Amino acid sequence: MKNTVVVGAQFGDEGKAKITDLLAREADFITRFQGGSNAGHTVVVEGKKYAFHLIPSGILYENKICMIGAGCVIKPDDLKKEIDDIIALGVKKEHFEKYLKISPLAHITMKYHTDIDGYSEASGKIKIGTTKKGIGPTYTDKYNRSGIRVEDLFNIGTLSKKLDTILDKKNKELQFVYNLKPYTKEEILAECAKYREILSPYVDFRWQENLLNYKNNKTILFEGAQGVMLDIDYGTYPFVTSSSPTAGGAGVGASIGPLAIDRAVGVFKAYMTRVGEGAFITELNDETGEKLRSIGGEFGVTTGRPRRCGWFDAVSAKYAVLAGGLSEIALTKLDVLDSFEEIKIAISYKNKITGEIINHYPTNVYTHEDFEPVYETFKGWNCDITKCKSYDELPQNAKIYLKRLEEILGIKITIISVGADREQTIFV
Ligand code: GDP
Ligand code: IMO
Ligand code: MG
Repeated sequence: MKNTVVVGAQFGDEGKAKITDLLAREADFITRFQGGSNAGHTVVVEGKKYAFHLIPSGILYENKICMIGAGCVIKPDDLKKEIDDIIALGVKKEHFEKYLKISPLAHITMKYHTDIDGYSEASGKIKIGTTKKGIGPTYTDKYNRSGIRVEDLFNIGTLSKKLDTILDKKNKELQFVYNLKPYTKEEILAECAKYREILSPYVDFRWQENLLNYKNNKTILFEGAQGVMLDIDYGTYPFVTSSSPTAGGAGVGASIGPLAIDRAVGVFKAYMTRVGEGAFITELNDETGEKLRSIGGEFGVTTGRPRRCGWFDAVSAKYAVLAGGLSEIALTKLDVLDSFEEIKIAISYKNKITGEIINHYPTNVYTHEDFEPVYETFKGWNCDITKCKSYDELPQNAKIYLKRLEEILGIKITIISVGADREQTIFV
């Protein structure tokens, strides 16, 4: 297999983890390149369900190194819980010690980051509907050059000096901007000591020579979290996450540059979902939306929130192909449409006031309430496709839908997912 990046192409939860797990069969090294435990990634193997948040979805295999890359943010107690939960499902502790690696350059989510995220969500002027995992505040400090990196935890002398410069300002921010409790240096050092203990079995201090070896000799799979429409630059700003889930993001966050990537698989659901606030032009607040949610089991893996549901939006999808740097498509959850009489794809937007039809994605989300989707309607196939093993076995109406999607998006659908299990996959 060529070095591949798996990118969410909608608002997250497209089924990236299932695709990553499948492609990981052919890879030697799997690396997450952005995001944190805001992600909720489900892998189903022989009916057994595993939920990952930060650990790369390739971890269930033997002999594959899984790395939490430099572009990620880590909340160590969440990572510990994630590991413990997977151990409870039968994976050995030693397996993680052998195969899980963490970049010393990844940033740490401190308690004050989750305090600020929680406060902003509870009382902020713009409610984003975040996962309250402290993601935005951690990335803010990273870019503000006042973050704490994994490597800082292992150098107590320089950590102490660093805290002298950042804590004073952080405490002022906590108290006077957010009306939150400040932290003493002792409290922060104790928190860091706890995090050091949690992370120490996994931190890869030899990452430079190891990554050089993987880059030169091994097959690499890059795992994205979230999706292009939640990207900090290209998503529905400001209703976005604080990192870059695009293929471009992999070129930065995995520490081996864009030339190590040969193909970019964009993962799309055959319809669309979104959790949290923000525009969603094809959202269905009706029985059809409810039916998608209940058949698709559309409830968040990380927060349990019901996901908003709607038809496939080809306008945003074409935009995601461009901005996400996608070269092919994995289409998931096609089976969820099995019992729909009619299936729709939004092919353009109509301005409700002027009647103007637009085919490009309007990036200012505050204008989205002016638009309504213009749909192309397809006949459903009204049969169970969850056991189809090849493209030829799919019903004719499903093939018509798939062909049209390919035509609109201008790239090939190479993977079709017809169920949550590893086996329920068609490689085209
Ligand atoms: P991710 O965040 O993109 O990895 O996706 P999530 O794990 O948050 O959500 C996808 C959900 O759909 C999970 O419950 C998966 O087990 C499930 N899933 C993935 N692919 C398929 C599919 O083709 N059909 C069905 N019915 N479920 C799927
Ligand atoms: P996976 O990897 C779906 C959403 C949140 C919120 C916005 C910002 O499972 O696809 P954040 O906590 O990141 O600051 O929240 O982004 N969000 C996700 N939605 N799937 C995810 O991850 C998400 N990660 C964040 O709901 O709207
Ligand atoms: Mg998810």
